[in-house]
Amino acid sequence: MVSDIKQGAAKILANGMNIPCVGMGTFGSDRFSPRQVADAVAGAIRAGYRLFDCASVYGNEDLIGSVFAEAFAAGAVKRGELFVTSKVWNDMHGAGDVLLSCAKSLKDLRLEYIDMFFVHWPFPNYHAPGCDGDSRNPDSKPFSAERFMGCWRQMERLVDMGLVKSIGMSNMTVKKLDAVLPLCRIKPAAIEMELHPCFQQQELFDYCVSRQIQPIGFCPIGSPTRPERDKTAGDPSATEQPAVVAAAKAHNVHPAVICVKWAVQRGQIPIPFSVYENEYVSNLKCTAEDPLTDAEMEAIRLGDKNVRLIKGQVFLWEGAKDWTDLWD
Ligand SMILES: NC(=O)c1ccc[n+]([C@@H]2O[C@H](COP(=O)([O-])OP(=O)(O)OC[C@H]3O[C@@H](n4cnc5c(N)ncnc54)[C@H](OP(=O)(O)O)[C@@H]3O)[C@@H](O)[C@H]2O)c1
Repeated sequence: MVSDIKQGAAKILANGMNIPCVGMGTFGSDRFSPRQVADAVAGAIRAGYRLFDCASVYGNEDLIGSVFAEAFAAGAVKRGELFVTSKVWNDMHGAGDVLLSCAKSLKDLRLEYIDMFFVHWPFPNYHAPGCDGDSRNPDSKPFSAERFMGCWRQMERLVDMGLVKSIGMSNMTVKKLDAVLPLCRIKPAAIEMELHPCFQQQELFDYCVSRQIQPIGFCPIGSPTRPERDKTAGDPSATEQPAVVAAAKAHNVHPAVICVKWAVQRGQIPIPFSVYENEYVSNLKCTAEDPLTDAEMEAIRLGDKNVRLIKGQVFLWEGAKDWTDLWD
């Protein structure tokens, strides 16, 4: 079945690969089961989504893999039409482990290659799933370019081996990129970063664009359903920003949809998450119709609060001051 829902034009990465302008996130947080997320992926394929943002740590790649296999078998979509990402988790950066992690994701996703494989976080710092925000692992370490490159060399080998088509980084800063980009044999084709109207990261965004690195925006709606451990008193809500609410009224859509439109028009690739068909269909359709005006784009730009929601404090090492140490 071919969906008749139109979506915005695909983008071309520096390595020549096409990537859709919007994708679907698959992190069920503490709220949605792997089955619910996999069912949403099945519905999203039917709706016309072609980009899916997966990760081993989301704990649902096996069920999502079954959905992909069924969609291929039914002729709903061809492998070459999908763009599937996955990510190596923090406990798999060591020598030989990146290949093992990739092999496990390939097996679970039931794919012969992954389109884009990310280093999920630039630290080998592991925390137990579901731990509270103040937990510290005594083995956690600060960022080191040398340690990171040990992981990245293994990522590069995955490209050489044809197991992944492209590689990317996630949760980086300009300072960390300055330290590692000159050392990369294969540069990241994309970088995943938190991007929404309350956290626009203009400097990092421009840094990536000027180097032909595609920004992919996670939490594009401000992640209203993120785990409690990632919530801090005073965090702003992207969907309640006056410029977003005003545009939502003008376009007669939910404020979440305005966040997705803003992201696509600005140039990042948003990967909104939802298990609800009406929501994920709106998030796809809105990329091809009724664009925001220049004045609306500018009003949202001016509303940036520069507040990071996903602070990552569970990755802190002993002796670190607070979560800002993770972000230089
Ligand atoms: N690389 C990384 O470190 C990293 C970190 C975080 C996330 N991610 C990726 O980014 C994806 C998205 O981030 P996220 O899931 O945290 O946050 P998000 O996409 O900003 O927010 C998701 C929530 O927004 C609401 N929503 C979505 N579409 C809507 C619509 N059309 N109308 C109304 N509400 C809507 C839903 O809430 P309700 O369920 O209440 O309707 C949904 O649970 C993740 O799934 C994951 O793939 C990557």
